[in-house]
Amino acid sequence: MSSYNFDEIISRRGTGSEKWDVAENELPMWVADMDFRTAPEIIEALERRVQHGIFGYTGVTPDWYAAYQNWWKTQHGFEIRKEWLIFTTGVVPAISSLMRRLSLPAEKVLIQTPVYNIFFNSIVNNGRVPLESPLTPKNGRYEIDFGQLEHDLADPQTTLMLLCNPQNPGGRVWRANELCEIARLAKKYGVTVISDEIHCDLTRPGVQYIPFAAVSDEAAQSSVTCISPSKAFNLAGLHSAAVFVPNGNLRNRVSRGLNNDEVAEPNAFAIYGAVAALKEGGPWLSALREYLEQNYRTARRFIRENLPQLQPFDEDATYLLWTDARKLPRNGTGLAPFIRKETGLYISGGSQYGKAGEGFVRLNFACPAARLTDGLNRLAAGVKAYEKTYAK
Ligand SMILES: Cc1ncc(COP(=O)(O)O)c(C=O)c1O
Repeated sequence: MSSYNFDEIISRRGTGSEKWDVAENELPMWVADMDFRTAPEIIEALERRVQHGIFGYTGVTPDWYAAYQNWWKTQHGFEIRKEWLIFTTGVVPAISSLMRRLSLPAEKVLIQTPVYNIFFNSIVNNGRVPLESPLTPKNGRYEIDFGQLEHDLADPQTTLMLLCNPQNPGGRVWRANELCEIARLAKKYGVTVISDEIHCDLTRPGVQYIPFAAVSDEAAQSSVTCISPSKAFNLAGLHSAAVFVPNGNLRNRVSRGLNNDEVAEPNAFAIYGAVAALKEGGPWLSALREYLEQNYRTARRFIRENLPQLQPFDEDATYLLWTDARKLPRNGTGLAPFIRKETGLYISGGSQYGKAGEGFVRLNFACPAARLTDGLNRLAAGVKAYEKTYAK
């Protein structure tokens, strides 16, 4: 038994929560944040900061660098040098800034789809072109088709690759040999890799993520990595993240981009929250991962027993259950909005993650077990109503 109460049902309505800005009868299991209070150590650190009462312009403190360095070394066996690290207000702001700084309008940015939908926004809103390099589903897991990847990297218009490690929504933790091969091909075709590793602390218990920059010198030298404690510690609203760039020349360009776009300066809580998470949040995170593991198993068992027509993916990481609904009538098209209308359960439709996501849905199970049960019952009712409505 852990000493943290992840079963507690906490209302988030009326707190400006984006996820919970839904009708009274609706149950949101879409956007990737959690319905759990964060670690007590983080709350205490922020309370101390509030009590100080002065919220003037804020800089990055030395313990911020040390906290990241130490966490990556102890948790992930990787040494991030202090000078590699740059504070940023979020992974998405950083990625959008990197689009502008590291590529030219109309150039292609390779993404392995299905992938986090906001990647498309960062690419398209900056006038670049998303190049969807589809992952291959194999027995409920995604694999990389390296022939396809090489073909897409070789396109002379491809200048950037946006890697998601671990992968959202498919839940894969990429293996060292896969990352090595990506690095080799990216170098061969002169493509810079931006590795979004925001989900790296949310692996299933016993599963180890590998930083892209850790696998080879060529990976380190041709990449920018985006990291943050915000997913694992539920701090997205604090706007606190980092990039690290081992290559000095590349780092100068990235730094100029982030500063020019004014996304390199912290608010009064961003540093305190991140330092407390990385310095003191370890035990809470371990307990959280155990709880998420139980929810993952519960959801898969429920689907196996009640909805065998759906195939939940076999995942290594994230609290997002990626589920293949293509065996349903109409290949599962429009399933998520149908379920929302029918039952109030708000999950994410797969098509927003790229063409390869059509016919899938994504369910966020980072919530108390009782709430998950409610969601799964609604899922079953919604799928059955969908089948009845669209049966041939
Ligand atoms: C892969 C990935 N990157 C980035 C983000 C968001 O990052 P941030 O809140 O730091 O902008 C998310 C949120 O779901 C995500 O899944």
